[in-house]
Amino acid sequence: MCNVRAMRGEDLPEVLKISQECFGPDAWSRKAFEREFELKHSHKFVIEEGGKVVGYAVVWKFSEEVSLMSIAVGRDHWGKGYGKRLMTFLVEHFRDQAKRFFLDVRRSNVRAIRLYQSLGFRIVSERRGYYSDGESALQMALELQEAEDAHKGTPSQAPTVGGADTKTH
Ligand SMILES: CC(C)(COP(=O)(O)OP(=O)(O)OC[C@H]1O[C@@H](n2cnc3c(N)ncnc32)[C@H](O)[C@@H]1OP(=O)(O)O)[C@@H](O)C(=O)NCCC(=O)NCCS
Repeated sequence: MCNVRAMRGEDLPEVLKISQECFGPDAWSRKAFEREFELKHSHKFVIEEGGKVVGYAVVWKFSEEVSLMSIAVGRDHWGKGYGKRLMTFLVEHFRDQAKRFFLDVRRSNVRAIRLYQSLGFRIVSERRGYYSDGESALQMALELQEAEDAHKGTPSQAPTVGGADTKTH
């Protein structure tokens, strides 16, 4: 049985391992994760299977906007629905607390882009050369109040660009 819950300090060894294997040199350090626990606007979750952490997500919430700062599922567990489960949880969790959900994703990250699109996220802009290796980021957004319609395939208007300008994975 898989389950999403708030991240705790004791999850950090597993979370760091997943971050390392997914992002390599761009992975967040232990200090970076620890800092998140001190930030009021930071919301952190893990997804576990049989009591073992298989993925995590970090989200920042400012006023009516939420921004996905990092999300990853352990490589051995890709393609089993954990990423979608975690993202679906986040959308539902923040739907009543915010209006818009933003994220940045590497242009080449087809797997992640398809996941976000399947939840109704739309590409709202491209940030050229956003990453340190020169790759561009696609900024994607979901209107949370319209999320239910998006699931049903009802077209929603693309929101204006304006998420927190923070560098994410
Ligand atoms: C992106 C990531 C979180 C997805 O997690 P996951 O558990 O593998 O995803 P899921 O199994 O829930 O699949 C969700 C969707 O991803 C897409 N997807 C899954 N496997 C795919 C593949 N091999 N190729 C393309 N798209 C794929 C599909 O759209 C799928 O939805 P569907 O099952 O309804 O068709 C995971 O691959 C990961 O941690 N990647 C490395 C870190 C990363 O890139 N994070 C995102 C940064 S913005």
